[in-house]
Amino acid sequence: MKKVVLSLGGSVLIPTLEEHRLARYAVVLKEIAGYAKIYVVVGGGGEARRYIAAAREIGCSEAVADEIGIGVTRLNAMLLAGVLGDAACPLIAGSQAEAMAYAETGRIVLMGGITPAQTTDAVAAVLAERCGADLMVNLTSVDGIYTADPNIDPAAERLDRLTPEKLLEIVSTGSLRAGSNTVIDMIAAKVIQRSGIPLLVIDGRDPDNLSRALLSGARSGSLVIRAGKGPLPITRAGEHR
Ligand code: UTP
Repeated sequence: MKKVVLSLGGSVLIPTLEEHRLARYAVVLKEIAGYAKIYVVVGGGGEARRYIAAAREIGCSEAVADEIGIGVTRLNAMLLAGVLGDAACPLIAGSQAEAMAYAETGRIVLMGGITPAQTTDAVAAVLAERCGADLMVNLTSVDGIYTADPNIDPAAERLDRLTPEKLLEIVSTGSLRAGSNTVIDMIAAKVIQRSGIPLLVIDGRDPDNLSRALLSGARSGSLVIRAGKGPLPITRAGEHR
């Protein structure tokens, strides 16, 4: 079975505890788990930002704020485990090695953050490398990777397909910020480049974008893939562009 690692942004899964997409994602994840081995790294979203702001307000260091952010990502992953029920491993992996061990259950593997000074995108990129994933998908709150910040530069264009080197170039110039969200962090971009694992960046605000991309080949967003590489390997029917 093919392996897919998902970096599921907290801002798309649980923007707030009042407004979330837990039930909708559970349906989609269960469906794709029938076709591929799924690992999900869950982000912190709005609640993590609120906790981090409160930590800074009371004088905590950035390192402590990161630990608090990690705690929220893990709580979000626990909520996802709750809604997935028997389809997911009930334990949230606290390390890459634990994720590998939990994969042996045959269920969807869930993880949050693990190390200060990075984001869950980096966790997902390393997990993809560790498990030998066929594909990593970043589900975020923008519709792909742009040449520049579309909020600032009206000439910014969304890239349908780019190489890992181009991704690194964009990330290092800092032009990958869209609104308040950076689409992917530098550590993640470097790991993606060294592993060569294809990365699909899609708008996760509509969970159906994920099943469309993986199961019907009707992908949207941006595909980061080495030059000369063929279509995406995960598809139930049809070819990816
Ligand atoms: P996220 O990965 O969710 O950050 O982690 P993000 O990209 O800003 O948010 P969304 O989910 O895409 O909206 C939340 C916070 O947790 C800490 C960082 O402080 C991060 O900003 N964190 C997370 C770590 O320090 N290490 C990790 O491995 C993961």
